[in-house]
Amino acid sequence: MSTSLPLRRVRNDDDDDLLALARAVSRHFYEDESDDELRLWLPFLRGCVSLVVEDGDRLVGNFGSLQVDISTPGGGRLPCAGITVVGVSQTHRRRGLLRRMMTAGLDDAVEREQPVAALFASESAIYPRFGYGIAAPTIEYRVDTSRLRFLDPVDPHLVVDLDPADVVAEASTIIALVGDRRPGLVSRTAAELRMTLQDDPPSFRRGASSRRLVQVPGRGYATYRVKDDFRDGVLAGEVRLQQLLATDPEAEQALWQHVLDVDLTATVTADLRPPDDALPWMVEDRLRLRMGESAPLYVRILDVVRCLASRTSAVSDGLVLEVHDPERDAGGTYRWDVSPEGAACSRTDAAPDVVLPIDVLAAVWLGGTPPTRLVDARRLEERTPGAVARLDQMVATEHAPWTPWEF
Ligand SMILES: CC(C)(COP(=O)(O)OP(=O)(O)OC[C@H]1O[C@@H](n2cnc3c(N)ncnc32)[C@H](O)[C@@H]1OP(=O)(O)O)[C@@H](O)C(=O)NCCC(=O)NCCS
Repeated sequence: MSTSLPLRRVRNDDDDDLLALARAVSRHFYEDESDDELRLWLPFLRGCVSLVVEDGDRLVGNFGSLQVDISTPGGGRLPCAGITVVGVSQTHRRRGLLRRMMTAGLDDAVEREQPVAALFASESAIYPRFGYGIAAPTIEYRVDTSRLRFLDPVDPHLVVDLDPADVVAEASTIIALVGDRRPGLVSRTAAELRMTLQDDPPSFRRGASSRRLVQVPGRGYATYRVKDDFRDGVLAGEVRLQQLLATDPEAEQALWQHVLDVDLTATVTADLRPPDDALPWMVEDRLRLRMGESAPLYVRILDVVRCLASRTSAVSDGLVLEVHDPERDAGGTYRWDVSPEGAACSRTDAAPDVVLPIDVLAAVWLGGTPPTRLVDARRLEERTPGAVARLDQMVATEHAPWTPWEF
């Protein structure tokens, strides 16, 4: 039985062990990169606490946890386990290996005093059973740019090239400022920033151009690739937007104007955008923006008290929440008081106003989904009349939670 196969931690000071992990990740995602390509991943993997399951000399399961943080309403930050590189060999699936690695990985996170874990899922059905909830939904666009006009254009010359040598420092500054304003932003390690903004081998490009980098200095940046195409004899390339982050509306619009006006292209695709993105309100014909749902950020609350105490609220109010967590026993009954200055949370014996499972707490914690909607979905129960309307106001945030990149 594969459940008795040895599980061990990867040795981060041993490049051979890290390369074996990279090979397993690549194989389990059917990417088949060469060792030279995989070596680019080693600095990123060195920053993870990784677990592997071995069957003889083969790695048949892999699981990584980044030491990052997540922004909370009011601009605070909480330590966060960024779960990544999860995979199990096709020959060993559905025998409990993911469950073993997840249990051990989250136990590790609790030991390191990380009150929360976060991840992006390859398939949405996998993680709710482990107590993960959708904390930050995202949207994607497919934009027909042929006749798209901005209602109130800003000066396009605000946008200039961003030198690859400067991109990590520039992006770090912008990301920190955006995280002060937006909850749910999971930070990046230095190695991730270098890998996703500076390294650019052909294997990263998926048939498109090298990465283009532009900025409004000190106020925002965007990165994208261009995939050329011809349709009926006409150039009809695609801009694949990777990131567009700005600290103010003028810089954000200048960057959008730039990416929606790249020569030789007719389409812009973008995913992982926040649901309250300003773009649809900037343009004359919003039906040229075909919108859909893209990958959300999943969050697993490991310490209810620290998570709930870590944020501010626009209102001053308090409720008793009964949280159910059959998977890890992080549940209980909690008194939660919020105000514009901060919050307090502690265990209580009082009768609950609201009853909810831990994945639903993750969905409402950062303001990603109004609790009322979860009552409608029969995922949250109101015990005191009017409590859910009050909870709606307690969790509401000015800006939707957002992590602009997968990890
Ligand atoms: C997803 C993956 C890691 C699951 O690993 P696994 O070892 O087969 O999972 P387990 O046997 O531990 O299953 C744990 C639970 O998750 C469920 N599950 C696993 N994969 C699932 C999937 N793709 N969809 C829905 N449920 C899934 C199992 O049914 C099981 O449920 P249960 O505990 O209620 O019985 C594996 O299928 C894989 O590597 N897939 C390709 C790469 C990938 O998608 N990685 C995830 C990146 S986010």
